[in-house]
Amino acid sequence: AVRPLIDGFGRRIDYLRLSVTDRCDFRCVYCMSEHMTFLPKAEVLSLEEIDRLASAFVRRGVRKLRLTGGEPLVRRGIVDLVRSLSRHLDSGAIDELTLTTNGSQLARHAADLAAAGVRRINVSLDTLDPDRFARITRWGRLPQVLEGIAAAIAAGLHVKINMVALKGLNEDEIDTMLRWCGAAGHDLVLIETMPLGEVEEDRTDRYLPLSAVRHDLESRWTLDPIPLSTGGPARYVRVRETGQRLGFITPLTHNFCESCNRVRLTATGTLYMCLGQDDSIDLRAVLRGSDDDGAIDAALDAAMAAKPKGHDFRIDRRDAAPAVARHMSLTGG
Ligand code: GTP
Ligand code: 5AD
Ligand code: SF4
Repeated sequence: AVRPLIDGFGRRIDYLRLSVTDRCDFRCVYCMSEHMTFLPKAEVLSLEEIDRLASAFVRRGVRKLRLTGGEPLVRRGIVDLVRSLSRHLDSGAIDELTLTTNGSQLARHAADLAAAGVRRINVSLDTLDPDRFARITRWGRLPQVLEGIAAAIAAGLHVKINMVALKGLNEDEIDTMLRWCGAAGHDLVLIETMPLGEVEEDRTDRYLPLSAVRHDLESRWTLDPIPLSTGGPARYVRVRETGQRLGFITPLTHNFCESCNRVRLTATGTLYMCLGQDDSIDLRAVLRGSDDDGAIDAALDAAMAAKPKGHDFRIDRRDAAPAVARHMSLTGG
């Protein structure tokens, strides 16, 4: 029988986020600094090692695997990893194998991902304006991402759009995005900016509380709460006028740590137990130390015992250092 992963607060952990690289072909202003130091390639896990670790989690009852980055689709061989992990879908051991991507490489990979068993993906897209897109992502080109999304749809993938709500950058575009997603059949998720890693922008200036955004949206749209749970942190409504779903990820205005079901593995095999805390366990050392998966199992038990209650993000103190020094791109959000 499966011995489930249950943390010290009684939370069942069944969702593993796997960052396959901390690198990215964009430099989103709220995510990365212009001058990033990346993990040395020599320290990054091989695809076989990632597979072995992921499979150890699956044996312990993880039902959902999400590949993240950085940008997961810039990692060489990524589709081979997806194909290999899809055996857990075929066996019924997991419910979902998916990715969060910036979309830049989707045109190239969408068909292969769909063929490998991926059914839906989350694409980060903060604006539909090409100039703003360039301003926010620094290195990105909007048409490339739109082509990627089109390729994903053509391949039969469901696409959910993630939009970080940013004061002065895209706050006036939320209605446009709702309409665009409604017409294209994408669910949309709005995200509050979180204080991870030093960036040039002042996140306090950019912070938009989604409680206020939602209140404002309700003056123009009919938002019917729905009980949908994807296993992620978003809370959803259905937008009556578009028929599409709209989600809110609100670490600042409504903490959801109580129902946390996830942990995240970096590309070098460090397991972070909470997005907003430094608590971690080096699974790479365990993995390389022994061929016996018993050692990994024991490390997972230790990880569960060490999982913190939750983050203590604050964004109201302009002079405060980020809650954690690492960037979101190290753990893939
Ligand atoms: P679904 O499976 O579609 O529900 O996706 P998801 O929301 O779990 O994953 P995605 O990669 O799309 O993440 C969207 C946003 O949610 C990112 O900005 C993540 O950083 C954020 N997020 C995911 N999990 C957590 C969490 O445990 N805590 C916090 N504070 N944010 C999270
Ligand atoms: N706060 C909130 N969301 C962030 N993302 C990246 N950095 C941050 C941050 N500091 C988002 C990306 C992507 C998701 C994985 O995380 O836009 O949608
Ligand atoms: Fe890259 Fe995503 Fe970070 Fe943008 S938010 S720099 S696309 S990892």
